[in-house]
Amino acid sequence: MLTSSKIFKGINGIVNIPGDKSISHRSIIIPSISNGNCKISNILMSEDVLNTLNTFKLMGVKIEKNGNNLMIQGKGLNSLNESKNSFHLGNSGTSARLLTGLLASQKFNSKLIGDESLSKRPMQRITEPLELMGARFKSNDNKLPLEIYGQNLKNIKYELKLPSAQVKSGIILAALNTYGKTEIIETNITRNHTEILLESFGANINQKKIGSSNIISIEGKKELRSKDISVPSDLSSAAFFIVAALINPNSKIKMLNINLNPTRDGIIIALKKMGAKIETSNKREINGELVYDIQVESSDLHGCELDESIAELMIDEYPILSVAAAHASSPSVFKGLKELKVKESDRLELIRYNLDNCGISCKVKEDNLYIDPLKKSAPKQNLITTENDHRIAMAFAVMGSKLGVDLKIKNPEFINTSFPNFSEKFNTVGGKVTE
Ligand code: S3P
Repeated sequence: MLTSSKIFKGINGIVNIPGDKSISHRSIIIPSISNGNCKISNILMSEDVLNTLNTFKLMGVKIEKNGNNLMIQGKGLNSLNESKNSFHLGNSGTSARLLTGLLASQKFNSKLIGDESLSKRPMQRITEPLELMGARFKSNDNKLPLEIYGQNLKNIKYELKLPSAQVKSGIILAALNTYGKTEIIETNITRNHTEILLESFGANINQKKIGSSNIISIEGKKELRSKDISVPSDLSSAAFFIVAALINPNSKIKMLNINLNPTRDGIIIALKKMGAKIETSNKREINGELVYDIQVESSDLHGCELDESIAELMIDEYPILSVAAAHASSPSVFKGLKELKVKESDRLELIRYNLDNCGISCKVKEDNLYIDPLKKSAPKQNLITTENDHRIAMAFAVMGSKLGVDLKIKNPEFINTSFPNFSEKFNTVGGKVTE
């Protein structure tokens, strides 16, 4: 159990935010199937990323730690070996969807298993397009455990049915080892880290815009060449500190080297719309990814209405955005949050349930979330249910810094899936969290 208590002196200082989770997964997967050596710096060593890493070790890839860096020796598109063991992916949806694509086009069979939460999450979204390519699977009612019968696939033209970077990336990874040109049409924006990294590794991948659609084409069977990667820091992790500084008086924090990829920066747009004092500086590009330094000060937030199109740019940030909305001066409405129901937990329901317990009036109607800000601190109960969801746990740890009542947060160990040492870092800049 984690206890988060009210703070009085604000959040202040420089916060060293760990490497981006999405980019860290891809920084293991792509060098493992490329030719040559790769040194990866600032990679996130969280449980989710370690699950991806162990999978490639089990397939015979030489991966070693060298100080703070990770070294991967890649031997090409078809260099992976069959593993006698199943791949344990823990809580990690990104590992499950991306690896399903990659493994479907290998010359051997594999089996993916996950923890309780991952075993409830939908896999059909990725197996369905792969089956159109000729892939074969055996699942537990479209969930993990998933047996993957690797084989040669055929190229396809596929329009994504959901705004999901995991699905898009899974298809791209399958297409890398498939003859011919695979085309993916996306009508919604999704994070493009896979495309950016593959392009810098020399893949035959192109993107063009036709009307409002983005068409990604991959010409398969081209060998990739490895190069060093520097992983930028994770905006999704920074978001907890950003909101903590915004809602607590006398706060001022700075975070360096934060990835502000325009397919993912919705939280900054949303918070600025709510009146947040957030300044970005020192814009630069690292491995094709945009990186900035960010400074945040305590701000008088007002509520805002956000429509579905911004949800694609910040799907992981609604738990912490809801905490910001709870401390704004007017109501907020966040629309089109269907995908929040199939994350590490049903986040839409857990946000509603936990805000309600904190004494905040809120409701969910037709996948839209309505939040009426806190008038006076009158929590119904101080126990936060996380259902093992790391982002719910961190969001409500931030809530505890402002609420005036000690919040008790269940199963905080799941924070390690994305942000090891979160509590220590939060306390270093003024947070009051005890385990
Ligand atoms: C991710 C994509 C998103 C996001 C997840 C990471 C990725 O999931 O929620 O935390 O790394 O591709 P969806 O693809 O399901 O939207």
